[in-house]
Amino acid sequence: MTLLLYIFFFFIGCYMKSKVQAMLLFYGKDILFTKNFDDAFNQVHHGCSSVGYHSIGVALISIYIAIFLSKIGFEICMRNVVVAALCHDLGILGRYEKYKNNRECCSRHPKDSVEVYKALSEKLQLSDVDNERVENAIRRHMFPLTPIPPKYIEGVIINIADKASSIFEKVGVSPAIAFHAGMIQAQKIA
Ligand SMILES: [Fe+2]
Ligand SMILES: [Fe+2]
Repeated sequence: MTLLLYIFFFFIGCYMKSKVQAMLLFYGKDILFTKNFDDAFNQVHHGCSSVGYHSIGVALISIYIAIFLSKIGFEICMRNVVVAALCHDLGILGRYEKYKNNRECCSRHPKDSVEVYKALSEKLQLSDVDNERVENAIRRHMFPLTPIPPKYIEGVIINIADKASSIFEKVGVSPAIAFHAGMIQAQKIA
């Protein structure tokens, strides 16, 4: 019986993982394959990761959370979630030239990430309502280290996934590693 349960959860896990990775690629392709996102892999983050890896990790965890919440009745726009997750820390790029110290980085990078998102968002053609929701999620993602909480569900998801991904990166089990390896492989084939 235990073995059967193990096999069941193993296959469910594999199915979920590939479904979540496919969703990230589908909703995030307009951000993932930009110069900004490419540069994000060269910016060290949390001492042991890069902004690129971290953002992919946040996006993957956010999708899991969003799937769960939509199953229990929340209405969630997956595209908003993925786009906000991928852009939430892009403002950190060049942090050692831009910010005096970590404290300044912590308070200013969400606003700078919103500016990066605005520059990338033309291609996305989101509605004004969706733009507002994505911008708010990015601007408020550092709560409670910054005082104002996110206003919408997308922001709450990013906020939780951001903390969770940082912990996974610190213990060396980020879900981003396998996804990024696949991304590089896909780019080589293309
Ligand atoms: Fe951040
Ligand atoms: Fe982050």
